Amino acid sequence: MDGSDATASVPLFKKTSSIFVIFAISCLKSVCFLRPSVSMRSVHGPVFNHDDDANGYDADVRNEKDPIRAGYHDVLAWVISEARIDTSSRVLELGSGTGNLSCLLHGCGELVSVDLSERMEAIARSKLGHIPNRRFIKTDILEVFDYESAPFDSVISTYAIHHLTDNEKCLLFAKVFANLAPGGRAVFGDLMLRNQGEKASKIQEYLTKGDAKTAQAIKEEFFWSIDTAVRCLIELGFQVETKRFSDLSWGVVARK
Ligand SMILES: C[S@@+](CC[C@H](N)C(=O)[O-])C[C@H]1O[C@@H](n2cnc3c(N)ncnc32)[C@H](O)[C@@H]1O
Repeated sequence: MDGSDATASVPLFKKTSSIFVIFAISCLKSVCFLRPSVSMRSVHGPVFNHDDDANGYDADVRNEKDPIRAGYHDVLAWVISEARIDTSSRVLELGSGTGNLSCLLHGCGELVSVDLSERMEAIARSKLGHIPNRRFIKTDILEVFDYESAPFDSVISTYAIHHLTDNEKCLLFAKVFANLAPGGRAVFGDLMLRNQGEKASKIQEYLTKGDAKTAQAIKEEFFWSIDTAVRCLIELGFQVETKRFSDLSWGVVARK
């Protein structure tokens, strides 16, 4: 050795291919070992966790003069009737909150309820003694299928899915489709608008009426765009029906 850099004598193509092999191995490692741990939870879950709203929530939803709450009780009753749940049904409820929806269930084979909020769940638990075969999972709506094995006969949800972005909604629908039994139903009641055009005009309409709170909710939360959601559901293979309950509340039945 004459003290010069030994690597300098290695031909350039050999150096390049060694670097490529090292790069390829590290990429493979990321794909094989890191990807499964990439989180699928919703981006805004922590913001829409209702822990801070739990105490006033049930009084709040009784005020149907509020455009956000108009139709609330009819929507819940409709979701339960459209879900066709019987005493053997395995049911998944997404964003169970204070349990107002499952309160309307007369019985089922098993109810799995999911929410991020422990305080909402504490209120739900106190109201749901009549459903002994209920289990609660504190997790993100998008992650529940990592913990629960299919199939479910019904998936039900009210006023929770509008906390997911449109892309997240479509991802959720795919997971729901994969985890529903053939003939199973997913029934949703939520804050929805026909399309982005109606969203823009409703924001303007509520601002003109002096209702900045409702306009802001439409602007900042992810009220469903029915056209986008229905397109996604149909592409997945669902048969879909919609029903309007108030200015901002709609129901969607998706049959597998
Ligand atoms: C407006 S409340 C609706 C509660 C109930 N379903 C009802 O109809 O009254 C929305 C619920 O969804 C929960 N939530 C919001 N985003 C969530 C997410 N990404 N994963 C799980 N729960 C979520 C909130 O904590 C809250 O309890």
